[in-house]
Amino acid sequence: MNKPSNRSLLGLIVLVGLVTAGCASDAELDTLQPQSENAREIDDLLDSVLAIAGVIFVLVLGGVVYMSLRQRVKSYDGDDEFPQQITHNNTLEIGWTIVPAIIMVVVAVLTITTHLAINDTEANAVEVEVAGESMSWEPKVVVVGHQWWWEFRYYFSEDVDADMLGDPRDMPPADIVTSGQMIIPTGEEIELVVTSRDVIHSFWIPALNGKRDARPGFYADWEIAADDPGVYFGQCTEFCGLSHSRMRMQVVAMEGGDFQNWVDEQMGPAIDRIGADIAAGREAFVANCSSCHLVSGVNDDLYSGAAVESAAAPNLTHFASRTTFAGGILNTYNEDGTFNRDDMAAWLRAPEEIKDNAANDLPDGVLPRGMPNLGLSERTISDLVAYMESLGERPADWIIAATEVE
Ligand code: CUA
Repeated sequence: MNKPSNRSLLGLIVLVGLVTAGCASDAELDTLQPQSENAREIDDLLDSVLAIAGVIFVLVLGGVVYMSLRQRVKSYDGDDEFPQQITHNNTLEIGWTIVPAIIMVVVAVLTITTHLAINDTEANAVEVEVAGESMSWEPKVVVVGHQWWWEFRYYFSEDVDADMLGDPRDMPPADIVTSGQMIIPTGEEIELVVTSRDVIHSFWIPALNGKRDARPGFYADWEIAADDPGVYFGQCTEFCGLSHSRMRMQVVAMEGGDFQNWVDEQMGPAIDRIGADIAAGREAFVANCSSCHLVSGVNDDLYSGAAVESAAAPNLTHFASRTTFAGGILNTYNEDGTFNRDDMAAWLRAPEEIKDNAANDLPDGVLPRGMPNLGLSERTISDLVAYMESLGERPADWIIAATEVE
């Protein structure tokens, strides 16, 4: 009798250990540490429902334990008489019909209230200076899912809606296009318009809001906001193919002034810093990458949309201003702040080794769904790495440190 109970105790300890090992106070995708109004609404709903469920759990389980102890046969005396049967206690039956119904109504009211609150995506205008002129920006960012990366498109001049955007696979040119990282001003609600260019994805920054599916052919309204400057991690949460787990993203919230600087930098040409030393890199880019990746001012004429399922690849105009690449899984900068030449080279050398994408050996007529292996020479790779480093302003140190992915 003693041995099995020791074993079950040990089993319980191991189980609790394993379950709690999944908890971390600084986990990147933590829904329990909300950093925005909407995330707090969701967290409050979770807390309330958990409290109600907790009370029910204790009452029901307590009742079961109490009854089984109270009614148990203390010693068997050979009496096989059937216990007395009790039925049709009206008070009890009406009670246990009405009380759960009331509990469900309370939960429903809490849920619907939260649902309405987080789906109210009306945001206040944000003052932004665009091309030297101050404007009142109705803050909207178009979020586009692709296998396996996120694109963020900013339009400053127009009223962004489904009519204006048209077909998600053929949207009008945006003022700023970035990938992997969405930059927002701190303390402002930013409306999102979420869509996809290939399959269904789901956009989720747990600290800032719940999930919203990105569906091809549709535009879904959503919102994002952050109380404080910082970096907030996210992950695609709808299974979308081989590299679904490697489709990550970040929201970087900056103070107004920093956001303005970012806008200025992104609106300007990225090619300012090109000197003679990277001419070879630019040539290599134009020769090998032009038909899929756009660097504004460099290959506008040659760019034709990528030959992949989504017909798009990340816009690289301000590549070096982003701190991650390859769908948010590789760091653009090393811990010491230097450009991460090693990972950049490895990605160009054999992207399929870093991220499953089935880009090679596809049957005829089937388009690849990720960066293909272009069979580049080591010389070309090193020229391209130098060129990528030159595209755009290096971000602030705190962003490089905070955005580091493992
Ligand atoms: Cu995109 Cu999962």
